[in-house]
Amino acid sequence: MSIKISFKKSKLEKTSANLVLFVEEKFNIRSIKKYISSPDYSFISDLLKTSDLKKRLLIFNLTSKKKIILVSIKKNIKNSEIENLGAELFGLINLEKNSEYFINTENIIDNNQNFIGYFLHGLKLKSYEFKKYKSKKETRLITLNVLGRRNNLSNLDQIKFKALEQGTFYARDLVSEPGNVLHPDEYAKRIKSLKKYGLKINIYDQKKLKKLGMNALLGVGQGSIRGSYLVTMEWMGARNSSRPLAFIGKGVCFDTGGYSLKPAKFMEDMTYDMAGSAAVVGLMKNLALRKAKINVVGVVGLVENMVSGNAQRPGDIVKSYSGKTIEILNTDAEGRLVLADAITFTEKKFKPKFMIDLATLTGAIIVSLGSEYAGLFSNDDKLSNELIKAGEKVEEKLWRMPLHKNFDKLINSKNADMQNINYVGGAGSTTAAQFLQRFILNKTPWAHLDIAGMAFSKYGGALNSGGATGYGVRLLNQLIVDYYE
Ligand code: BES
Ligand code: MN
Ligand code: ZN
Repeated sequence: MSIKISFKKSKLEKTSANLVLFVEEKFNIRSIKKYISSPDYSFISDLLKTSDLKKRLLIFNLTSKKKIILVSIKKNIKNSEIENLGAELFGLINLEKNSEYFINTENIIDNNQNFIGYFLHGLKLKSYEFKKYKSKKETRLITLNVLGRRNNLSNLDQIKFKALEQGTFYARDLVSEPGNVLHPDEYAKRIKSLKKYGLKINIYDQKKLKKLGMNALLGVGQGSIRGSYLVTMEWMGARNSSRPLAFIGKGVCFDTGGYSLKPAKFMEDMTYDMAGSAAVVGLMKNLALRKAKINVVGVVGLVENMVSGNAQRPGDIVKSYSGKTIEILNTDAEGRLVLADAITFTEKKFKPKFMIDLATLTGAIIVSLGSEYAGLFSNDDKLSNELIKAGEKVEEKLWRMPLHKNFDKLINSKNADMQNINYVGGAGSTTAAQFLQRFILNKTPWAHLDIAGMAFSKYGGALNSGGATGYGVRLLNQLIVDYYE
């Protein structure tokens, strides 16, 4: 299925097939009288008497070839609610074969300059699907003609919406790829190809990582026949050389658990264990596409957590890039090992204004927050509040969880500076975050987003139809737009 959207100068003709018309709250339809014939108007008025007016969209089949869809706009509607309306429209029009609709922007009652921009943005986000490995290709085409005075999005706004869609879709594509295709070697190559958008890409391969002493990250990947990598992406879009913002992502291309092997059921889900890194890559692509006026670095650790004669053993002790030693009590707590080295490296190399890491880090965060909120752990109240607000705006919500030094005793080790799991049990997501915090050496403001419950949606959400969600791209873009750009 593909969607073709065209913006037309022409006015709506009463005879046009399939219309989308906007009306006021509670389906007050007076304002659409001039756009439809009077028999159609009376037909709809009559049916409205028995319709559920609490719905936001209503569809009326006038003939087998003509439908009218009414979209009700409530007063003071928020951007995210406009996006949801667009997504709901997609749900309605996606049920049919080839189809063409005329969307009349003339009677949009809301003052939001970008109403139609948000509306179509939501529609497009919802329409994404990953069909690369289906041999039967769908040829369905949905044509949307956007008419009327309110269809004139500025060039700049069009670029911004498009960049954000492409960034989100890129993240979703990466997450959707299976482990046999998107292994660390292939992933590093794909990131390198983003050079064409003006990003500066640096790939640290195994040899370089060994030299740098990133043994925590390397230990996780050592059982794989693929390489392990740390990849940095720089976008220096500010006019000055101000300190960059840093985003760090967990890129475990597949997580078998290693010798602390995961059970067979649902192990296949662990192909999305690189979603944190995908959000960072998607964000960087978005920033480059829209030429954001800000300095930002993205850093991702790419590994595959496998079992082999050379894989890491429970009980192994590694020396991390920070110099601190870690006893590996469970090879399935691998994400924190990858992030530990990535965090210390990012802080030292880029001296960022802040660091935000994203990771599908713990099953425990799904127990706490399900698929509604990502867990937020931070050493900085200001950054936390900004993140929470940005998340509310784009409906990629965050809930703040605690960090406290009292949790430290749970990860102190007899044999090394720390151990990678908490044997006492409880507070699994917090101890993981507490572990990460130990690798910030210079008090840089930092936030950790545990997105294990958000990266992949089994049933679909407001702006996705199920599968990879691209969680994080829109959230972090909003954070940058509202507070840093
Ligand atoms: N990638 C997993 C966490 C995860 C679980 C993500 C389910 C998405 C869905 C992570 O590497 C992991 O295995 N964590 C362990 C940690 C434990 C061994 C301390 C977990 O959550 O069970
Ligand atoms: Mn794991
Ligand atoms: Zn993992």
